[in-house]
Amino acid sequence: MIKKISVIGSGTMGNGIAHTFAQFGYEVNLIDINQVALDQALQTITKNLDRQVSKATLTETQKTETLNNIKTYTSIEEGVKNADLIVEAATENVDLKLKIFKDLDAHAPADAILASNTSSISITQIAAVTNRGDKVIGMHFMNPVPVMKLVEVIRGYQTSDATTKIIMQLSESLQKTPVEVNDYPGFVANRILMPMINEAIYTLFEGVAGVYEIDTVMKLGMAHPMGPLQLADFIGLDICLAILKVLHDGFGNPKYAPCPLLVNMVAAGKKGIKTGEGFYQYTPGSKELVVANKFKKS
Ligand SMILES: NC(=O)c1ccc[n+]([C@@H]2O[C@H](COP(=O)([O-])OP(=O)(O)OC[C@H]3O[C@@H](n4cnc5c(N)ncnc54)[C@H](O)[C@@H]3O)[C@@H](O)[C@H]2O)c1
Repeated sequence: MIKKISVIGSGTMGNGIAHTFAQFGYEVNLIDINQVALDQALQTITKNLDRQVSKATLTETQKTETLNNIKTYTSIEEGVKNADLIVEAATENVDLKLKIFKDLDAHAPADAILASNTSSISITQIAAVTNRGDKVIGMHFMNPVPVMKLVEVIRGYQTSDATTKIIMQLSESLQKTPVEVNDYPGFVANRILMPMINEAIYTLFEGVAGVYEIDTVMKLGMAHPMGPLQLADFIGLDICLAILKVLHDGFGNPKYAPCPLLVNMVAAGKKGIKTGEGFYQYTPGSKELVVANKFKKS
């Protein structure tokens, strides 16, 4: 029975994962390297819970109970010692994740399941630094976690049937739909999504059409809720580039080579919403979608 869950990393995904587990009655230990990040995460969770209350999808009592279910820690050792499951959602960096999983293996109870929310790093490689490969699995939530229904459950080479079954059932207990996939570069979600985003960037790079036109074709023609260039800005262009590199390296197929325009934009610091500019430019507080000056037609 999974009751106590530790979440490593309290950024965009970690706070959403903590929020969701806590809302469904699990005891959550949220762990980050600094207290400021943890305080910000609690503020974000409170704001998001307030939104649910104002939409009447949650009561004030449920909001209070959810917040009471979350404790914060700055030490992995302290935060995971009683956990049944650890969900790692720290920065997407392979060396960092390998170090964290070594620490988790040393400090978490021997029967605890270790899950990673990585977008692209091999679960098999992560499992290999632990002594419990059968209990290491990918639990890939989508952003924003409290809203998005999918959990991509990734089986590493050594992941057992028992571990997979527990994580599938646990995802259902969060009213999500889990989908089981095998551990190959990009899993399923990013293997399909990233080549589409890359192709949209190539279409812009080659002058086939502008930013607005490309996104409008995909929104109105294919009923996508947002165009691929806007979605790339939302995900972060550095993240898109990193995932394309994983696909390119992992399969050795030139079809995954990142578009040179994407490489240049990341090098120039234009990484999308988080830096204020990508394919669009973003003004705090404004919801208007404005094409970045660089891509405006003269
Ligand atoms: N952002 C997305 O849309 C998205 C979607 C799916 C999966 N992911 C994956 O989720 C993970 C987290 O992404 P994010 O967007 O939340 O990143 P983020 O940068 O918002 O947050 C990462 C957090 O990890 C913390 N951290 C770094 N090292 C740590 C350590 N040693 N111990 C504890 N905490 C540590 C940082 O302080 C930061 O608060 C990544 O693996 C990413 O690929 C992201």
